[in-house]
Amino acid sequence: MKPATITAPTSDQARGPGVIAIDGPAASGKSTVGFAVAGLFNYLFFDTGAMYRVVTWAALDQGTDPHNDAAVGTLAEELDIAILPVGTARDGRHLTVLVEGQDVTWAIRSPEVDQNVSAVAAVPRVRAALSQHQRQIGAQYAHGFAGMHGIVMVGRDIGTVVLPDAPLKIYLDAPVEERANRRFLEMEKRGKTTSFAQVLADMQERDRIDSQRAIAPLRPAEDAHIISTAGLGVLEIVERIVALAKATCGAD
Ligand code: DC
Repeated sequence: MKPATITAPTSDQARGPGVIAIDGPAASGKSTVGFAVAGLFNYLFFDTGAMYRVVTWAALDQGTDPHNDAAVGTLAEELDIAILPVGTARDGRHLTVLVEGQDVTWAIRSPEVDQNVSAVAAVPRVRAALSQHQRQIGAQYAHGFAGMHGIVMVGRDIGTVVLPDAPLKIYLDAPVEERANRRFLEMEKRGKTTSFAQVLADMQERDRIDSQRAIAPLRPAEDAHIISTAGLGVLEIVERIVALAKATCGAD
């Protein structure tokens, strides 16, 4: 594989398209790649999955059944959720997630949240509240905000529902076995004990729920650039997206 080199955007290209939407299934590389692209353009990296995770975490934390649609709907409408840049944290996070002022960046990545979040994300009231919040943040950062030049928004329905007018839409994909393997290795690194078979089964179930739900199912937007990440390194994928972002701005 040829080593990928990435040139940081300069002069005219420096601001990029303002908004980059990245969608794809779990462990398709959205977070790693989106964070790197955001860093190169000085954009906010905004992982919308974190919001669905916060609602799921809050339900579990207060002993509410995450399958109680009315209760999780109310949580999504009422919780004070803030998504912030990493700041001075040096613990591998790609963003900081606060709920009611409490830092839950890592708490929302627990296996319990993993197992319940797809059901929460399928609830219409949850989606309505969180999509509206995401659109507001997208509009706020699109032309620069808080010292940043734009936003990379990552999720499942960003190009199709949340920001259908985004000037650049990317859809990352990879076979479920490869994605499960990535997630398994990540979990091993964090000291979590689970089997590959379990990770694969959980991922297949999440894919099924995310892509078959009635509202905003996971699918590429018609004008999305689809990148199959199988066998590609992170730098190569980032390089492709940076090239597309520069092209979107009319520069090469
Ligand atoms: O990307 P993730 O694993 O953190 O996402 C958590 C869940 O939230 C996953 O089941 C898909 C859902 N989600 C969604 O429905 N729409 C989004 N824009 C982002 C995530």
